[in-house]
Amino acid sequence: MKKAIVVGATSGIGKGLAKLLVENDYKVGITGRRTELLEELKSENPDSYFIQTFDITDTKTAAEKLEQLTTELGGLDLLILSAGTGDINNELDFEIEKRTIDTNVVGFTCIADWTLKYFEKQNYGHFVAISSIGGLRGSKHAPSYNASKAYQINYLEGMRQKVTQRKEQIFITDIRPGLVDTEMAKGEGLFWVMPVDKTVRQIFKAIRKKRKIAYVTKRWGLIATILKFIPGSVYDRM
Ligand SMILES: NC(=O)c1ccc[n+]([C@@H]2O[C@H](COP(=O)([O-])OP(=O)(O)OC[C@H]3O[C@@H](n4cnc5c(N)ncnc54)[C@H](OP(=O)(O)O)[C@@H]3O)[C@@H](O)[C@H]2O)c1
Repeated sequence: MKKAIVVGATSGIGKGLAKLLVENDYKVGITGRRTELLEELKSENPDSYFIQTFDITDTKTAAEKLEQLTTELGGLDLLILSAGTGDINNELDFEIEKRTIDTNVVGFTCIADWTLKYFEKQNYGHFVAISSIGGLRGSKHAPSYNASKAYQINYLEGMRQKVTQRKEQIFITDIRPGLVDTEMAKGEGLFWVMPVDKTVRQIFKAIRKKRKIAYVTKRWGLIATILKFIPGSVYDRM
């Protein structure tokens, strides 16, 4: 049986991916801060799920918990980092900006580095992170969220360059969703909000194909192309 960890599996995309992995005969380590939700998921298939509760911003504990989970699983082939946060912050409330940076930048880097070092030691493995189409451009409504996703996109490219040059059997996949119907997608006037099950099926397909970058769902790939080419002078007025 293949072994995977999903960091951020208590809800949304991470939970959907954990379930899909179990349906595909993986043993899956699931993490998040809300233990009761991890236990609820485990109760659906007690032999296939393994639990560790931790906050990814607590970087010392996070690395220890990943070690423990990997030992319980008996190894690791795939780690999916889905944990993340984001809020509308038109008022530039610094507490919101800090929470976003602590989670999506500091916590992200801690999990990503632990994973890459683990895979480098065993010389194989697949690291998948859920960034966002938001990382392609800035946002007046959620400046730190989009900036943190740009950091993730750039960091993942750096990791890919590192493993490619060493010709290791390590794969890095950057999943860039558009809007998905989860706790995170809040606010008025949202459009093309994709169902979680459709999104996770497309993500799983991209993981199986070991894609470097995947936009999900496909129609959001079109938006990504348009976003990239809007001139700055036009984007500033939007
Ligand atoms: N929904 C969208 O429209 C959308 C679009 C593009 C990208 N994304 C990205 O997709 C990823 C998953 O988000 P989602 O939409 O599935 O939202 P979600 O349902 O709110 O899930 C977020 C997950 O992250 C975990 N998490 C958050 N902060 C954490 C922390 N400090 N430590 C540990 N775990 C933490 C949460 O678990 P606990 O609360 O239990 O800790 C939860 O399992 C995020 O990285 C998000 O940026 C989402």
